[in-house]
Parts: sequence; C-alpha cells; structure tokens
Amino acid sequence: ALRRAGNIHWQHLDVDKAARARIKGQQPRCLWFTGLSGSGKSTIANLVEKRLHAMGYHTFILDGDNVRHGLNKDLGFTAEDRVENIRRVAEVARLMTDAGLIVLVSFISPFRAERRMARELFADGEFLEVFVDTPLEVAERRDVKGLYAKARAGQLRNFTGIDSPYEAPEAPELRLDTVAESAEALAQKVIDHLLD
Ligand code: PPS
Repeated sequence: ALRRAGNIHWQHLDVDKAARARIKGQQPRCLWFTGLSGSGKSTIANLVEKRLHAMGYHTFILDGDNVRHGLNKDLGFTAEDRVENIRRVAEVARLMTDAGLIVLVSFISPFRAERRMARELFADGEFLEVFVDTPLEVAERRDVKGLYAKARAGQLRNFTGIDSPYEAPEAPELRLDTVAESAEALAQKVIDHLLD
C-alpha cells in the first residue's frame, strides 16, 4: 500500500507486526489506563506489568510522569498540550505494539476525543481502555503528591478535576473501582480480562 502525506510516501516493510509478535509467542495489546491524578493508574499498571513479566510476556509501560521527563518535556497542562501529549504517546504505543509488545499506557488522558483517536490507531480488539475509577473526593483526600492542595490554593493552574476537565469513559473495556477493591485484586482483573 502506498499512502501519501504531502511528499512522504509509506514505506512497505516485509517483516510485519504478526511476524514480530509470533517470535515472542504473544499477541500485541495496548492497555490504556485513564483516570484522575492520584487515582491509582500507575500503581495498578505497575502491578499488571510485574505479573505479566513474571509470566514471560514482553511488556512496556509508558507512564505520564516519566514520558513528560523526556519525549514530552516540552509540554505542559493546557488543553492543547494535553492533546499533543496523548497524540504522541498513542503513536509511540502503536509503534510498540507493531514491535509485538504488550504496552501499558498510564496517562490521565482526560479527553474522550483523544482516547478515541488513540483507539483508532489500533486493530480491532487490540486496544483495551481501562478506567481507573476513583472519585475526585477520594483522589483529593489521598493527595499523594500534594498537588490537589496546591491546586486548591491557586498555586497550580489547569489541574485535572479542579480547573481542568476529566471526561470519564462511557464504554471502557474495564472499569476498576478503587474504593471497593485493592490494587492487587484490580491488577488481577486486568490480567484475567487480557488472558481471556
Ligand atoms: S495528561 O492530562 O494525560 O496530559 O496528563 P499526564 O501526562 O498523565 O500527567 C499527569 C501527571 O502530571 C502531574 N501534574 C498534573 N496533573 C494534572 N494536572 C496538572 N495541572 C498537573 N501538573 C502536574 C501529576 O503528577 C500527574 O501524575 P498522576 O500519576 O496522574 O497523578
């Protein structure tokens, strides 16, 4: 297939995603964790990766805080920057699934439109949206990083849930209730769903 974007042509490559994944004996997946700051995304994604890794799967985690130290260090938290943040990480996740990996993406990713855009980059059934559903009051009460306090004090602008919106998923593949269940139990739920 020859696709054109301006003068850029699509280069056909002979070794494809299926071939790369076959060597690993796994099917590529993108597990997309979304939720408020402090909802538990990173904790749960980390537990899921640890268990998958122990089972011999080849995984990789893309975590907002970490990716913002490198690839996305030019981006802040305006709506425009968050859109670009998610666009880039979705493309990276796609490259990693093309490499045959099981990729765990852990970003607030507050906007439905960008999560939909991310989903559309993947083959049917390859993208699993995991809503880490923690009510604002609970995330704010935990305030692990002290950021909610800063946002309430007006020292931090555009904070998700305070003065920047979070659009909860309407039909995620999985919804994790972090009030009702432990991170360990929820991580197991994700794995059960994935291996199903
Ligand atoms: S987004 O919305 O997807 O672009 O955000 P993300 O890349 O996941 O980055 C979220 C982490 O950045 C810290 N932080 C903020 N979060 C939200 N709003 C504002 N204004 C902000 N400023 C800094 C915060 O530690 C987030 O980490 P998590 O792990 O989500 O708590």
